[in-house]
Order: sequence, then C-alpha cells, then structure tokens
Amino acid sequence: MERKRIDLKRLSPHLRRVLYSIGKFADSRSWNVFCVGGSVRDLLLGRKNFDLDILVEEHGLEFARSFARNAGGTFKLYRRFATAMVILPGAVKVDVTTTRREHYPEPGSLPEIIPGSLEEDLLRRDFTINALAFSLNKKQFGQLIDLSGGIADLESGVIRVLHEESFRDDPTRVFRAVRFQQRLGFTIEPRTEELMKTAVDLSLFEKVSPERLRHELELIFEETDPPGAIESMARYDELRFIHPRLIYSEALRSELSRLKENYDWFRRSFPAEDLSNWRLYFGALIYPLSIKNMGETGKKFNLSRRFLSQLIAAKRDEPETERILSSPGEVPPSRIYSWLWGRAQEIILIMLSRITSRPGAGRIRRYLTEFRKVTREIGGEDIKRLGLSPGPAYAMILEQILTARMDGKVKSREAELRLARRLVDKVNRG
Ligand code: CTP
Repeated sequence: MERKRIDLKRLSPHLRRVLYSIGKFADSRSWNVFCVGGSVRDLLLGRKNFDLDILVEEHGLEFARSFARNAGGTFKLYRRFATAMVILPGAVKVDVTTTRREHYPEPGSLPEIIPGSLEEDLLRRDFTINALAFSLNKKQFGQLIDLSGGIADLESGVIRVLHEESFRDDPTRVFRAVRFQQRLGFTIEPRTEELMKTAVDLSLFEKVSPERLRHELELIFEETDPPGAIESMARYDELRFIHPRLIYSEALRSELSRLKENYDWFRRSFPAEDLSNWRLYFGALIYPLSIKNMGETGKKFNLSRRFLSQLIAAKRDEPETERILSSPGEVPPSRIYSWLWGRAQEIILIMLSRITSRPGAGRIRRYLTEFRKVTREIGGEDIKRLGLSPGPAYAMILEQILTARMDGKVKSREAELRLARRLVDKVNRG
C-alpha cells in the first residue's frame, strides 16, 4: 500500500476547516474517518468539487447525525443505500457512508450492502481513480490510501477498473467510464475497454431499470461536451441501450455538434432562461427514430408527455418547417412566429440544428432573439374603451395587433389604437 500525503495547500481555507472539523469530531468519538471517491480525485486534479464524500468505519450514520447537530447543519438519511447527507452552513454538502462491502445478487441489480473494512470499501469501487482515500483523523490527517494504483492512473490520465467483474457487478459503469473519459480528457485503458465491450455484448443491461439508465444519461448530458460523450458512447455501442435502432450516423454527429453550438449561443444570449440538457440531447438522439419508436422510447425513459408530443409534432411538421422557414422569398415575422410559438425552447433548438438552409436557421434565430419578445402596448382595457363588449373578439383583435407590430405595420401605441379602432368597428358592424 502506497502512503503519500495530500497537499493541503490544494484545499481552500474553508474546505480545510470543514475537513479538520470532521476529523476532530470523529477523534472525539475515536472513530476512523476518511475522505474518499470523487472528492479525492478532484482534489488531486485541482478541480473544483464542492461536495465531499466521507467514509466512517462502522459508524457512518451515527457520525452524520451527531456531526450535523454539532456543526449546526442539516441531516438526511437515505436508508435504502445506508448513506446520509449533511448540509453544513455555507452550503457544503457532505455525503457520509459507513465502510462497506457490496454484494451484487445478479448483474445489474442494486447491491446488497454489508458492513466491511476500509480496504473492502475501496476495492468495491468502479475505477482506480475513484478508489482513493485520505484520512481525516488528526494523527494521520491528509495521509493518502491508494490500494490500486489510482494516483499513478490519475497522473497518467487513465481510466482503469479495479477488477474484472466491475462492469458485470454494475453495468452502468460503462456510462461512467465514458463520462469520466470525456470530462477529464483521460483514456480508457485497453483491458478496461475490452471489458466494456464484453459488458455491452452480454445482455447485462436487461436487469438495469430505465430509471437508472436515464440517470446515467442525464449525468452525461450535464457534462461540458455532451456531443463528445455521445460519440464515445457510440464507439462503445452504448446507444443501443436507448434503442436498438439508434444509429450514430454522420448526419446525427454533425447535428449534435450544431446543437451544442446553438445551445451555447442560447445560454449566452438568454442566461436567465431555463433549458433542460436532458430534454435537449435525449430529444435530439431519439429524433431520427421512427415516430412509433420515438414515442415508445420517450415513454420508456419517462420523457414528459408534453415534451414527447411536441417532439413528435416537430418531426411530423419537419417538411412544412422547411417549406415555410427556408422559403427563398420574403417570410413575414408573424408567419415565423405563429409557426414556432408554443414549442419548447429545446424543440426550437433541435429544429434550428436540423434545418437545412441558412435563411431557415436565420429565421429561427430571429424568432428567438426578436419575434417572441415582441409585445403590444395596448390591452383589453383599451379595447373596452373603444366600445367593444367583452367576448372572444378581444383575443383575436389583440393577436392581430401583435402580428401587425411584429411585421412592422404599427410602431407606436397610437398606431396600435388606430388599428384597434378599425378592428373594433369591423366587429361591431358584424
Ligand atoms: N461508485 C462506484 N460505482 C458506481 C457509482 C459510484 O464505484 N456505479 C463509487 C466511486 O468510487 C465514486 C463514488 O462511488 O467515486 C461516488 O459516486 P458518485 O458521486 O456517483 O461519483 P463521483 O466520483 O463523486 O463523480 P461526480 O464528480 O460525477 O459526482
């Protein structure tokens, strides 16, 4: 076992204080406590990670409960996984577990959790770079525990499983491998790669629920370069777990890369607007499937019903979208608006990535930057003052005023009122 120390200068003063206080509290009870997993990996790589993974020999949950109380934080227990989450003042999130062994009754099923030693706990993990720990007890504070060559793999940028059964135990690790490879720019070591390929060939995924698969996909889509990660998934034939007919074509590859550009542009342009990476990338991935397969896959992965029906509608409408938006002639803004209005932003970005013409793309962008933001200056009260009794004609008139504003036919409140008067007169004349 290699024994090195973590460089404390790598930690922020606040984090250092939190870690010392965890160690001090554990010392007061004579418990052994360690920082493990992703936190250690990220600390050694100098990457920001605000969440801490803490492992306590034998007394994890007891530790979490009493430490939270002592430090003025909150405590939440996840009984099924025998873990607890402590949120400390300053919003530091600390995940606490007891050292454990895991037994997988069947490949892909959730593990049975059995108390175990620190060594057993580290050796049950997915990759060597995630199987590092360092002690938090005062006497050995910062002392690194590296049972499987994780430090060397971190230094040479390698993702390597700890043992041959790793993917069989938990097939979702094939997605984790791709995620870390992409995030850290690491390479997957050849034997690990072989094991991944075997894992996707064997039908280990039959036991993995769509919820767990979705969870892994969501994490992948939250990384900074989802198209790169999807390409990697395709290389390891992992897309077939979404749908066996999903083919990673050249067209899909370039569409995803456009999608990422459009996504970045949208985020920069509208930082306050919500965008779901899950809906965006999952929607784009299943878009090339037939409508029937798209519908089934969307349901299987619990895509919201509303979003799924919009995605199907966008696919059905695609020829019409091309006809309207890619038209070489003049297209009034109100026509663009009425075609796109009501569709989710993620759908619009997918449409933007698929449209074949430059003018078409330009019009979708103008819809996002201009047309959907257009407002009118007059409202229902003004129509009332013009002498129209309340009824469905109100909405129709206001809509027409908005349309006229968008197309530049009216440019001021006065002009809107003049148009409104004409429309009201028309309605009143019957
Ligand atoms: N782990 C594992 N197998 C899995 C999931 C997790 O062995 N299928 C272990 C790894 O040691 C991992 C730790 O549990 O480091 C914590 O898991 P998680 O929070 O999912 O991953 P992190 O490594 O913290 O990565 P991230 O930065 O993405 O949260």
